[in-house]
Amino acid sequence: MTQPSHTPEELAPTDLAQGKAYTAPGITVYYDARRCVHVANCIRGLPQVFDTAQRPWIQPWQGSAERVAAVVRTCPTGALHYALEAGEAETPAIPTTFHLIPDGPLAVSGNLSIQTPRGEVREVRAALCRCGASSNKPFCDGTHAKVGWKSGDAEASS
Ligand code: SF4
Ligand code: FES
Repeated sequence: MTQPSHTPEELAPTDLAQGKAYTAPGITVYYDARRCVHVANCIRGLPQVFDTAQRPWIQPWQGSAERVAAVVRTCPTGALHYALEAGEAETPAIPTTFHLIPDGPLAVSGNLSIQTPRGEVREVRAALCRCGASSNKPFCDGTHAKVGWKSGDAEASS
């Protein structure tokens, strides 16, 4: 049997490389637009790198690879990932955490195995649809806001 090149606690960068790639010396950032719900943690964290007024809107060469990676890890939906040239993969959070976003998805962080129509997806961060309207299930695609879905659980999530 072929041995995985990483331990069960560690995901290989290739597991997480989804979406469009933006490459700079030391780091490649991956962005999957279908999983972005515009929380804007990235824009707040490093506005010179994540700037929707620029083309491309992700310019990882505007920051250090370590700082860019740190901000990518704050993306709660998993729309953003990175691969460092040095090879170190993102470490999943321990313990796994679940966070209800009011009127939005369930944000999950940990060593995740998610079953999707395309097969298993290994993840460290994900936002899962709660409203039922996403066209990218089980992931949230932001449709909850367009359809005005209300979760009614604002108190539980604070
Ligand atoms: S979901 Fe992620 S990529 Fe989208 S705006 Fe928020 S932090 Fe940025
Ligand atoms: S919770 Fe976001 S699309 Fe359903």
